[in-house]
Amino acid sequence: MGRIIACSNHKGGVGKTTSVVNIGAGLSRLKKTVLLVDLDPQANLTQSFGVNNPEFTIYEALKGEHELVPIHIDKNLDIIASTLDLSGAEMELSSEAGREYIFTELLEPLINKYDYIIIDCPPSLGLLTINALTVADELFIPLQPHYLAIKGLTKIIEVKDKVKKRLNKKLEITGVFVTQYDKRKILHRDVVDTINTYFQDKVFNTKIRDNIALAEAPSTGTDIFRYDPKCFGAEDYMDLCREIIKRHENGR
Ligand SMILES: Nc1ncnc2c1ncn2[C@@H]1O[C@H](COP(=O)(O)OP(=O)(O)OP(=O)(O)O)[C@@H](O)[C@H]1O
Ligand SMILES: [Mg+2]
Repeated sequence: MGRIIACSNHKGGVGKTTSVVNIGAGLSRLKKTVLLVDLDPQANLTQSFGVNNPEFTIYEALKGEHELVPIHIDKNLDIIASTLDLSGAEMELSSEAGREYIFTELLEPLINKYDYIIIDCPPSLGLLTINALTVADELFIPLQPHYLAIKGLTKIIEVKDKVKKRLNKKLEITGVFVTQYDKRKILHRDVVDTINTYFQDKVFNTKIRDNIALAEAPSTGTDIFRYDPKCFGAEDYMDLCREIIKRHENGR
């Protein structure tokens, strides 16, 4: 049975999509089968893999027009694509019965086909994110090491607690990690200390350093391992993938 991970933080630009792309690519290189789902109307995950004008999208599937159709990207790596159309989904689906479970129902036939299913959420806590949290076993929260970034975390924790209570008892925060980290900055080190104190063993040891190659790779439609396998970004995301697998092997 595949592990379903939602990658969410309602704060924008914290590295959600970059992380989903490169954790997915990293896990697939470590011989895990991976499905990445673009649940964001910005479609950045889809674009990061160079997929333009996809034939089947998550929006049409959510509207009941067809089932989820994975697009093959690389060995062991598929994605479910998104387009800007998805921006209408929150409104259109808001009056549907069981609206929080629409994505759960769609994902069901695919769950056993992959070792990992990772969902890239939009920077909001609306119906799309709730749909992701309703199907997920685990919640990963990437964050930038800024003071205001930790302040905002109370909101996502509140939403996670409500989803866990009312919609999905199995949901747990299992991975908090820092992106765009610069160890020379005292603020960054201080924020990491605060996160460690609060989230303790939920925090990954790996920190994703600030690395321009991670920002460049999407323009070539590839992940960091194909774009520049020797850069810090590739090193950090591979370390993070090894940590993810190790935690799962240890039953955490
Ligand atoms: N470790 C890093 N080093 C340098 N640049 C990074 C790093 N991680 C992400 N970026 C860049 O920061 C920007 C925001 O990253 P990303 O799109 O992954 O964030 P996001 O949380 O998905 O944003 P949104 O909330 O809009 O969906 C992008 O331009 C990305 O290329
Ligand atoms: Mg994003």
